Amino acid sequence: MKIAVLPGDGIGPEVTREAVLVLEALDLPRLTLFEGDVGGIAYKRHGHPLPFETLTMTREADAVLFGAVGEPAYDELERSLRPEQAILGLRRELGLFANLRPARVFEGLEDLSPLKPELARSIDVLIVRELTGDVYFGDKGVRETDAGEREGWDMMSYSAPEIRRIAEVAFRAAARRSLTSVDKANVLETSQVWRDTVIEVAGGHPDVPLDHLYVDNAAMQLIADPAQFDVILTGNLFGDILSDLASAAVGSIGLLPSASLGERQTTHGTFGMYEPIHGSAPDIAGQGKANPMATILSAAMMLRHSFAREEDAARIEAAVAKALADGVRGADLGGEHGTRAIGAAVRERL
Ligand code: IPM
Ligand code: MG
Repeated sequence: MKIAVLPGDGIGPEVTREAVLVLEALDLPRLTLFEGDVGGIAYKRHGHPLPFETLTMTREADAVLFGAVGEPAYDELERSLRPEQAILGLRRELGLFANLRPARVFEGLEDLSPLKPELARSIDVLIVRELTGDVYFGDKGVRETDAGEREGWDMMSYSAPEIRRIAEVAFRAAARRSLTSVDKANVLETSQVWRDTVIEVAGGHPDVPLDHLYVDNAAMQLIADPAQFDVILTGNLFGDILSDLASAAVGSIGLLPSASLGERQTTHGTFGMYEPIHGSAPDIAGQGKANPMATILSAAMMLRHSFAREEDAARIEAAVAKALADGVRGADLGGEHGTRAIGAAVRERL
């Protein structure tokens, strides 16, 4: 099991450390970990947020465990050298087109949600976000208008094959649950092709109920009636926005994991990159306060998708749930447990 660990910036190193300790506590067969620089720290050490050696290391691994990137000190750099480019570069270079972002409320944590507890309790949604296309990766630039003013432009597009492959992932993830495809087909041609293609793919999955929502309505429904959603399929930009919205609805961004899967098959599963969705949180970096649970849960997703170790994945998830039920709470959940204490509490309960 070859895993490239990329701790990155801010709280990334603290939280990935705990996730690695959890993996090591599981007695996995032939676990081999490599560590590489990514993000602001990589820029500082190598002059680029995604150094060639790091990219090579990820290509040789079966899976990547990623902490976080982002460092305010580097926000003024030209765009291609900013820490965020590391993550966009990894997605593009590794072909990680399928982003899975589950959001649900752990029992007993309903009060953390800004929604009424009965609404919060009903949230159990998987957002399947396309990750290597859309306006994120289209041509873009800044030009001058006839009046001599600056004008920014970004090209949005989706081809049918791009839509088909992410739709297949979403239909398979939905199994027998329902699938909601989110677009803006009332305004965008890109979305019309999206919708038509999703309907075409649905023909091969007659057991999955499918409906379609416009993205503005989907945002509203996620707050007003989250229980209606099982799996949401959407494009890169809408998925970025809706997944933050879902995480806010859950009320505990420090608990949400993610998987970004590619097409490459490894010995046991699908190559993927796994990361917490919370980001680098520079304001609390290095203080031992960050909640490592999202990264630990990302490691569980890694065992499931890249190594076909469902039992170990479930063990980790149960240990996290048990720790939470026992009152283990990081500062993000209004508690006093630090990063290491939370990691230890999860390991004790494996
Ligand atoms: C995310 C993040 C990234 C994105 C940024 C850091 C480029 O917001 O993973 O959701 O927009 O995809
Ligand atoms: Mg985002």
